[in-house]
Amino acid sequence: MKSQKIRETFLQFFNSKNHAIVPSAPMVIKNDPTLMFTNAGMNQFKEFFLGNGTPKNNRVTDTQKCLRVSGKHNDLEEVGKDTYHHTMFEMLGNWSFGDYFKTEAIDWAWELLTEVYKVDKSKLYVTIFEGDSSEKLERDTEAFDLWKKHLPENRILNGNKKDNFWEMGDQGPCGPCSEIHVDLRSEAEKAEIPGAQLVNADHPQVVEIWNLVFVQYNRKADGSLENLPAKHVDTGMGFERLCMLLQDKKSNYDTDVFTPIIREIETITNTKYGQNKDQDIAIRVIADHVRAVAFSIADGQLPSNTGAGYVIRRILRRAIRYGFTFLSIKEPFIYKLVQVLSDEMGQAFPELKKQQNLIYNVIREEEQSFLRTLDQGLVLLDTIIAEAEDKEVSGGKAFELYDTYGFPIDLTALILSERGYALDEQGFQTELQKQKERSRAATKVETGDWIYVSLNEESFVGYDTLESPTRITRYRQVTSKKLGEHYQLVFSITPFYPEGGGQVGDKGYLEADNGDVIYITDTKKENNLIVHFTENLPKDVEGTFKAVVDAKQRKRSASNHSATHLLHQALRAILGKHVEQKGSMVHSGYLRFDFSHFAKLTQEEIVAVEHFVNARIQEQLALEEQRAIPYEQALGEGAIALFGEKYGDAVRTIRFGKSMELCGGTHVNNTADIWHFKITSESAVASGIRRIEAITGDAVMHYFAEQDMQLAQISALLNNAQEPVKAINNLQEENNALKKQMESLLQEKSGNLKKELLTKIESKTDASGIKINFLAQEIDLDANGMKDLAYQIGNEVENLFVLLASRYEGKALLSCYIDKDLAKAKNLNAGSIVRELGKYIQGGGGGQPFFATAGGKNPDGIPQVLQEVETYVS
Ligand code: SER
Repeated sequence: MKSQKIRETFLQFFNSKNHAIVPSAPMVIKNDPTLMFTNAGMNQFKEFFLGNGTPKNNRVTDTQKCLRVSGKHNDLEEVGKDTYHHTMFEMLGNWSFGDYFKTEAIDWAWELLTEVYKVDKSKLYVTIFEGDSSEKLERDTEAFDLWKKHLPENRILNGNKKDNFWEMGDQGPCGPCSEIHVDLRSEAEKAEIPGAQLVNADHPQVVEIWNLVFVQYNRKADGSLENLPAKHVDTGMGFERLCMLLQDKKSNYDTDVFTPIIREIETITNTKYGQNKDQDIAIRVIADHVRAVAFSIADGQLPSNTGAGYVIRRILRRAIRYGFTFLSIKEPFIYKLVQVLSDEMGQAFPELKKQQNLIYNVIREEEQSFLRTLDQGLVLLDTIIAEAEDKEVSGGKAFELYDTYGFPIDLTALILSERGYALDEQGFQTELQKQKERSRAATKVETGDWIYVSLNEESFVGYDTLESPTRITRYRQVTSKKLGEHYQLVFSITPFYPEGGGQVGDKGYLEADNGDVIYITDTKKENNLIVHFTENLPKDVEGTFKAVVDAKQRKRSASNHSATHLLHQALRAILGKHVEQKGSMVHSGYLRFDFSHFAKLTQEEIVAVEHFVNARIQEQLALEEQRAIPYEQALGEGAIALFGEKYGDAVRTIRFGKSMELCGGTHVNNTADIWHFKITSESAVASGIRRIEAITGDAVMHYFAEQDMQLAQISALLNNAQEPVKAINNLQEENNALKKQMESLLQEKSGNLKKELLTKIESKTDASGIKINFLAQEIDLDANGMKDLAYQIGNEVENLFVLLASRYEGKALLSCYIDKDLAKAKNLNAGSIVRELGKYIQGGGGGQPFFATAGGKNPDGIPQVLQEVETYVS
């Protein structure tokens, strides 16, 4: 059975049991502070388990794109080394939200596997939770009895809390689980060791394929368990492993999910999979990682230097460096795999096909830039090796390479061992650990449990009003490095807009009936709850309040949000329909919009875009809002939806004239309220992605006033020139002419200096007859001038050893040049010499064995430097 058919069969089976088939949620999560990536099928349903939302269907099924590369579930380092772990994988699942429980979950799993997929029953084992006394949890005898209908008792194994009690993270929904394992070994192997002994023992051919979780508890912040309001089922089957089983393979990578990609890697890199252990690992790493990276980019997450983007960058870099080291490919090639990936998976995941070009370009650019970094790292590593004492490179140096240049430690270790050098791995690990602790301390958040005050419904009224009477329904205390100790409140009714769709959360205040006021500093959404941030709790949390949004800030954010829609429309009208939103940030002070486009915008294009938006503002287009219309209807009416966003069945649309988008943000009532739109910058974010920053309303007024002021100052500096541009041109010409004059004067000066210095060279000869032409002198040149001069003399005089010093801008500079042959013959190292001499000028330096420089803050030490080097050479 082909993988496409395997996926389809799963969904149809559960559909026939009255499950609604729903699409995969985006793999990159945008509005959950506790999770960066979807790591299990149940993530998108978390709010239903917690009781914060009501599902439209209480039985659903899907295939979910998952990524396990950070947090509690992280398989990254395993991937490639074995044949059954992945960074990105598909999880097939069926869910019951307070509907059926263990009986149906177990019976249907068995029916699908053995009657529909026709898996040989003798290959299957199941596990049940054995109980845990420290948590006061009993053995799951109910599951045991249910399985007994299908399998002999000796195939139903007990499992401990680690394997058979599933938790999503440190907090949240959880419960006992039953896993289904398959034994894919040959009969001979089975006769030797019974499969039961290998379940959950990391054997590549005895693997878990399906996990049935019976969700019934919530893990609280203090570590205790509480019962959830209802019992649910969450199952997850590893799609790639199921394919391995049904296609009778010994490795996930031998299924048709991976073979087309692997064939392509073989062709591009001229290798053969299955012949060499290291190369096979590299090929698996690349085949796996290209999927993770491509799907993330399709979901709108570009590689970057922070957060989720950094995780994606590291995954791609891991693939590049496996290719670099084990397949000897020193140029970009992973981007070439995007085509087959899109051919194979584009049907099930159309976002991949639609964004194929973007994915291709972004990966290629990342590859180019990382390969450049690797090159620079190699040069630096040469210097480090040259300076290494006792043939060992310190952990600190290796860490610097890793941290500053992204140079991976295993590559450093490999190169060092090839050259016969040792690496202080322990020292490296210590530095790494220190850095991890620093960043952990910087991002640590301690979240207390919710304390419930009143049992009111929680609703949002912020589209219609900025003020509302309200009560606090629940609150909790949170401590984070960024905000310190603070409180988070949920209101019965709130006019506060929670951060979302790029728009910042509202600020404002809460006023108690007795006049007490507390300030709301931010508003965010978490698992469908609107959470208000505040430094202080009101004195009487049970009282009644007036919630008031800061109207001025809100008006500015709304103006910037509406302008963002008009900007999007303008870009598509002026640059073309290929423009797609790739990121948006709507602040009260400005807006930022990232979009796909291949070239820098010309000045004419920028002006045309500004004109377009300002024309829509002048047309005074009224806001036309639809609150809850079916998703399909909205698309039919022409609304723009974004990749990587999760939309519900009922959506909100925002229309101004011909601009229509799906959007949850707040907007002006009429485009005239935006007043004016001005682009302040246009730049590149990544290959094929541009960024525009712009302002609206009173920010534009301030901007022009500021520009006017600057222009007046410039005119004044130019002696009130009427035509400042012309005056500046004249100044530049004059300046260029002076620079030329200066250069020729300097050349003359250094020519004279060279002549003078040549006369000062002293010849010395050591006991073994090696001649040294030595010069130590203070001169009046900058660092570049000294370097040029030293090299010039070195070209004319053999066996030269020069130390030049100068006073420059209140500092001391040293340059040391040693002829290559001389350095070899006498085992001299300019780097170590300047480092030693640096002490006398209160500074330091370094460089290569043949040329090195130092700088220090004590120019008065120069005479002593000259004295010391003289003594040294003598
Ligand atoms: N949540 C469970 C898992 O990820 C089953 O879907 O294994």
